[in-house]
Amino acid sequence: MHDLEDGCLPNALSAVITYGSEAREMGKVRVVLFGVGAMGRRMARFLIEKEGAEIVGAIDISKDKVGRDLGEVVGVNKTLGVEISNDTNAVLSKAKADVMLHTTTSFLKHVYPQIAKALEHGVNVVSTCEELSYPYIVDEPLARKIDEMARRHGVTVLGTGVNPGFAMDTLPITLTGACQKVKAISVTRSLDAANRRVPFQKKVGAGLSPQDLEQKLEEREITGHVGLEQSINLIASALGWELEDVKVAPVEPVIAERRVASKVKGGVTIEAGQVAGLKQSGWAIKEGKRVITLDMQMYMGAEEYELYKIEGVPPINMKNTPCMQGDLSTVAVIVNSIPKVINAPPGLVTMMDLPIPSATPEDMRKYIKK
Ligand SMILES: NC(=O)c1ccc[n+]([C@@H]2O[C@H](COP(=O)([O-])OP(=O)(O)OC[C@H]3O[C@@H](n4cnc5c(N)ncnc54)[C@H](OP(=O)(O)O)[C@@H]3O)[C@@H](O)[C@H]2O)c1
Repeated sequence: MHDLEDGCLPNALSAVITYGSEAREMGKVRVVLFGVGAMGRRMARFLIEKEGAEIVGAIDISKDKVGRDLGEVVGVNKTLGVEISNDTNAVLSKAKADVMLHTTTSFLKHVYPQIAKALEHGVNVVSTCEELSYPYIVDEPLARKIDEMARRHGVTVLGTGVNPGFAMDTLPITLTGACQKVKAISVTRSLDAANRRVPFQKKVGAGLSPQDLEQKLEEREITGHVGLEQSINLIASALGWELEDVKVAPVEPVIAERRVASKVKGGVTIEAGQVAGLKQSGWAIKEGKRVITLDMQMYMGAEEYELYKIEGVPPINMKNTPCMQGDLSTVAVIVNSIPKVINAPPGLVTMMDLPIPSATPEDMRKYIKK
C-alpha cells in the first residue's frame, strides 16, 4: 500500500471507495503518456478501449506531434480532447494523474529528469526504459535518488516491458518457483524481424551491408538489444545468487543466406549477403560456472520461439512458439502493471518486488486495492 500518512489518496482514487469484495466506486484511473512514439501510440490505442482508465495528458517533444490532438496522432477516428504538449509541468499540474506511462528512451541518465518531474507531481511511473528495469547496475547513486524521491512523494516507479521485464527474466524466474534446486538457467528468444514493424527492422540493421552495419554499431546509431544485463541481474537477485561476473558479448551480425521479404507493409526485403539482423548473448558466472545464459536472436527469417531450460530438480524445458509479439506484449506488460504499481509501497521497484504479473481484462478499477 502507498504511504497514506498525509491522509491523501492518490489523485483520482480519492473518490468514493467501497472496500471489500465489491467493485470499488471511484473515478477512472487517470493516465498521462510521456512519449507518443511507436510504443506510446500503441498504449494510447489500447487504453482508449480499456474500461476504467482514461488518458488525461500526453507529452512529447516531436514537432510533428506537439499541439495536435492525441486521437489524431494515434490514428483513431475521433478527437480525444487531449492535446500533446512539450510542457511536462503544465500537463502534470493539470492532469491530476495516477500514473504516467513513460516511453521515450532506453537509458537511465536520459530518463531521470523526465521521471523526476512525475515524482515531484506525486504521480506513479511505469516506464519502458530498459535500464530502469534493474537500474542499480547502471548508476547506483542515480537509482537511489529516484528511489528516495519516489518514497518522499509517496509514489512508485517501475521499469518493465516484454524484454527486459518479462520474457527473459520474470517468466523464467516464475518457472523456478516449481523447482527444489536450480543449477543453471538458459533462455533463448528468437524473433523473425520480417514480422515486425519497419523501425524494428531498421533497428536490427536488416538490409544493410555488413560494412555499413559495422559503422552504425561503432557510431552507436544501432545498439542492438538493451537489457540483457538487467534480465540477468533480475534473475540472480530473485534467486539470491551472488554473481562473480556478468558478461554481455558484442552484438553479432546475422548475414542472410537467401532473399527474405518483409511480411509487413513498407518493410525491408533483404538479399543473400546483406545483414538479416542481429544476435546477442549474455551470461553470468557463479562459483566458476555459467549459471545464467541469455540468447537473443532478431533477424529476418528467424524461427520464432522462446526456449526456457532450467537445469534443476525437477528440470524444466519449455518452448513457446511463435514467440511473444514484442509490441503487443510490451503494451500489455506496461498497462497490466498499472494497478500493481498503484497498489505497491512507494519507491523504485523492479518486477521482483511486485505480485506475480497478470492480465487486467476487466475494468481497471477492479484491481486497485485502495
Ligand atoms: N522494455 C521493453 O520491453 C521495451 C519494449 C519496447 C520499447 N522499449 C523502449 O522504449 C523506448 C520507447 O520505444 P518507442 O519504440 O516508442 O520509441 P520511439 O518510437 O522513438 O518513441 C519515443 C517518443 O518519445 C519522444 N521523446 C524522446 N525524448 C523525449 C523527451 N525528452 N521528452 C518528450 N518526448 C521525448 C520521441 O520524440 P522524437 O521522435 O522527436 O525523438 C518519440 O516521439 C525505447 O527506448 C525502446 O527501446 C522497451
